[in-house]
Amino acid sequence: MSSDAQNYETSNAQRCVPARNQSPNSNKVGARQPGQASRLWGGRFEKSTDEMINEFQASINFDKRMYREDIQGSIAHAKMLAAQKIISEEDSEKICAGLEKILEQIDAGKFNFSVALEDIHMNIEKALTDSIGAAGGRLHTARSRNDQVALDTHLYMRRQVREVQKLILNLQKELVKAAEKNSDVIFPGYTHLQRAQPILFAHHLLAYFSMLQRDFDRFEGVHARADIMPLGAGALAGTTFPIDRNFVARELNFSEIYSNSLDAVSDRDYLLEFLSAASILMVHLSRFSEEIILWCSREFSFIELDDAHCTGSSMMPQKKNPDVPELVRGKAGRVFGHLTALLTTVKALPLAYNKDLQEDKEGVFDALDTVKFSLAVFAQIVAGMKIRKENMRRAVEEDFSNATDLADYLVKKNLPFRQAHEVAGKLVHFCIEKNIYLKDLTLDEFKIFSPLFEADIHDAILPETCVAARNSQGGTSFQQVAIQIAAAKDWIKNHGNNN
Ligand code: ARG
Repeated sequence: MSSDAQNYETSNAQRCVPARNQSPNSNKVGARQPGQASRLWGGRFEKSTDEMINEFQASINFDKRMYREDIQGSIAHAKMLAAQKIISEEDSEKICAGLEKILEQIDAGKFNFSVALEDIHMNIEKALTDSIGAAGGRLHTARSRNDQVALDTHLYMRRQVREVQKLILNLQKELVKAAEKNSDVIFPGYTHLQRAQPILFAHHLLAYFSMLQRDFDRFEGVHARADIMPLGAGALAGTTFPIDRNFVARELNFSEIYSNSLDAVSDRDYLLEFLSAASILMVHLSRFSEEIILWCSREFSFIELDDAHCTGSSMMPQKKNPDVPELVRGKAGRVFGHLTALLTTVKALPLAYNKDLQEDKEGVFDALDTVKFSLAVFAQIVAGMKIRKENMRRAVEEDFSNATDLADYLVKKNLPFRQAHEVAGKLVHFCIEKNIYLKDLTLDEFKIFSPLFEADIHDAILPETCVAARNSQGGTSFQQVAIQIAAAKDWIKNHGNNN
């Protein structure tokens, strides 16, 4: 697995699972039960939460992957509280130093996450108070977990979207490389999965480049929607403290601030947009997967995948299976499922925060992992595939995909297209009866069907001629494909260093 696709931001968090009072061998997040007094919201309660209920409602098992963002957001909040004189400079410094220490602990896999503390926000806040005392209890002034979780998720998505975009670019680079390397390879273009017209293989690859270009842009939109700062909304209505939301936005480099506090804590549009952009991207990868699977079948034999990217069969010794594209095709369904799930979760939810919203994360995280992993393996598949040029050539020559060119030849001799189509159709039929191809016909045979045929007809229906002739803008000609390759390289250069 390429390091790009590895979920490095969660790996440490996932390693440090045993709770303080659990056996070190336990691989579950600790179910430590603090008495109601040690609960961050325990004041109103007489009984402690039922253990099963605790486990049911806790999100720590999955939201711990946002620990960096939670700490980053809290540091910005603490600085703002001091700048606004809501807490003392000294407390703010203690809080920031304490949070930095917690970050180090989590990074090093030395933090014990607790289910009883529900989520990443309370796990970190409790650890802070345990470590720095009373000052830790001032951090949550003028803040609610509702705007805190929104802030964390915005920060997290903003960072992740950039990673997805990098992986898209990486795949695009491989496509351009493969297109350039095979820029003279002709193969049949299909409609209805029937050979249609000869095209450049590079032209086909570049179609996927264009789709990925739109995907990239869609993720740019997701980034813009994640780049809005929700903190300061409080639980739902704002806060009685004289906070400075612009200060926090500046600290965290946000371009905008939510202008309505209810919207700030209820909005999950940016996640829906992410899931729909991810779904469309998976549609593209899935279509490409399907083609790769077909192309490396014996029936097509257009490409061969690298041995390192395939698996064998435990029973059939001859098998070399294209598992990777099959899995990518399969995983598309999983990402669509997450989109449908979140749409269903937020539909009919009253404003503002409802615990249902906690259900947003697992699907989004899984979709992220799936998309990143799929993009990374796909780049390897494209880089490693061998093109079987001769088989592609044969598929073009031993067929009738040059029949349109035969008709166009007559049109250029002033025959109306409809009549030319009819003549070409008859010639195809004639060839099928004789079990030959158009290239095998003699000039005399051509002339039986139209006196307009001349000695140049054989050249006119050569695959190279057919391809070169489709020189309309965006067409498959060598010249147009060279233009596409140059534009693609430019595009990559211009989009390569976003952050
Ligand atoms: N874990 C919660 C979530 O992911 C955090 C917000 C909880 N807010 C609350 N009022 N219970 O949505």
